[in-house]
Amino acid sequence: MTGPNIIFTLKIAVAAVSLILAASLVCLLMGKYRWHGRLNLVFFVLTLSAVLGLEAIIRFVDPSIFEYFNDDDRRKMNVHLGFSIPSTILLPLMLVTGLSRRRRGHVILGCLFLATWVGTAYTGIVWLRHTP
Ligand code: HEM
Repeated sequence: MTGPNIIFTLKIAVAAVSLILAASLVCLLMGKYRWHGRLNLVFFVLTLSAVLGLEAIIRFVDPSIFEYFNDDDRRKMNVHLGFSIPSTILLPLMLVTGLSRRRRGHVILGCLFLATWVGTAYTGIVWLRHTP
């Protein structure tokens, strides 16, 4: 398990869950709210597992995993974190407001969440280097 391997795996995971999120938004446009909710429950569990898994690896398994990053990589990682941290904070709020059907709050937070998620996916998949 190397840093580049972990980054590559996470890129695949982010692309996969982004497809689930996109499908949930299509359901929303079609008025299928229940399916939107179910897909997003899957999105929530998978995304949270990836975040917690990565945290566990960085903190407990091998803290030196990103030592292959140079200064430019670190700058890009900081921009990426500028999107991914707000997105991780908004994620549980999305689930709670969705499940309790607080539609106004859910849609307003949804716009913010979508912006932070697009930033997370773009900077994560395109910017972060997964070659040694
Ligand atoms: C990204 C933009 C999103 C928008 C614009 C959006 C919008 C909506 C809307 C309009 C509803 C129907 C609310 C109602 O019935 O009054 C809904 C329901 C719901 N949403 Fe979202 N949503 C978004 C993302 C998410 C995310 C990321 C999650 C979970 C992490 C989520 C979870 C849910 C759940 C659980 C429901 C209830 C479904 C049901 O009726 O069974 N949504 N959403």
